Amino acid sequence: MRLRLRREDRLVAATVGRSDGNRTKTVTRGGSRPAATAAWGTTALLDRRPVAVPWAVVYDRAVSDLVITPDDVARAAAAIRGRVHRTPTFSSKSLGPGQHLKAELFQRTGSFKARGALNRVLGLSADERRRGVISASAGNHAQALAWAAASEDVDALLVMWQGASTAKMAATRGYGAVIDLEATDPGVAFARLYALQEQTGRVLVHPFNDPVVIAGAGTVGLEILEDVPAVDTIVVACGGGGLVTGIAAACVPAGVRVIAVEPEHSNALALGLAAAVPVTLTPETVADALTAPFAGTVAIDVCGQLGVEVVLVSDDEIRTAFRFLYERAKLATEPGAAVAVAAVLAGKIEGECVVSVVSGGNVSADIASAILKGP
Ligand SMILES: Cc1ncc(COP(=O)(O)O)c(C=O)c1O
Repeated sequence: MRLRLRREDRLVAATVGRSDGNRTKTVTRGGSRPAATAAWGTTALLDRRPVAVPWAVVYDRAVSDLVITPDDVARAAAAIRGRVHRTPTFSSKSLGPGQHLKAELFQRTGSFKARGALNRVLGLSADERRRGVISASAGNHAQALAWAAASEDVDALLVMWQGASTAKMAATRGYGAVIDLEATDPGVAFARLYALQEQTGRVLVHPFNDPVVIAGAGTVGLEILEDVPAVDTIVVACGGGGLVTGIAAACVPAGVRVIAVEPEHSNALALGLAAAVPVTLTPETVADALTAPFAGTVAIDVCGQLGVEVVLVSDDEIRTAFRFLYERAKLATEPGAAVAVAAVLAGKIEGECVVSVVSGGNVSADIASAILKGP
């Protein structure tokens, strides 16, 4: 079964900046509608219509020819095998009957991001390796790209923003990357990323809107299918949507329901799916890893096609899940990686055999102890 989306569609007329009423931009998707095979159904095809967004970001790096299949994810798995950990999946009686945890916080660099970053770096041409790589990140993709690039002797520049996790910055520098810290928030960081990429000629390794990165992230899903063959529902933390998209591409064809979980005040995928284009927002959440200022076009297209549902959780529900994972499951997770379990604990997920992905564990002792202390 194959999903093929051919796209010439580009987002145009984009600027950067907050809306002051007069500066609100209309962003129009041009080009053809994506075509899907009958097997995938046609209900979620994108409309070609203008969409008003309060403030827009330059999205003109849209993927022009998108193909993500279970075979692509399997190829990614073969490419990165032996270079990343195969993380365990446990059943969790304390979470409930039929509940499981995919412990991806034990991944190299402390999050699933190592999979996609390595898959992308391994595919660079000799010329691209010489030019070096660049990306923007709240910290986990930064660490992962720094690690993957260093392991292939490629130079890495990471755009982060003031207020991002200092522990994640230190780890990123520890892997040998340079951090640009001029940006004041995630939206500004992405605008700066695109400007710096043009100035420097480095290769953009997008944290969540690159099909090769997404295929790498999808290998989490392949391992779940192998380890829990009876799985009917996979619950996944969502920022810009790369992880949930990769898992959906790998697992929905196998008949598994995939649910994206977002913090209620950082709900880029929910907004993007409703508008059928990326909608920018200013995220506010304790889950620092889930502060993408927009969802990727790939996530919106593929999750829309595959019927990925979105569930929202509050910061209090995230803190409760964080404490549950520490005390009952013995997992020292980070807040962003606790959102899937937060949705389960809050009774927002149905399923007989459910796997919640605990997607990372990069948290400072200060933040962890403040959350563990409780309200
Ligand atoms: C630990 C963790 N979980 C989940 C996500 C969400 O991934 P994505 O942005 O691909 O949706 C991130 C993103 O950085 C993350 O760091």
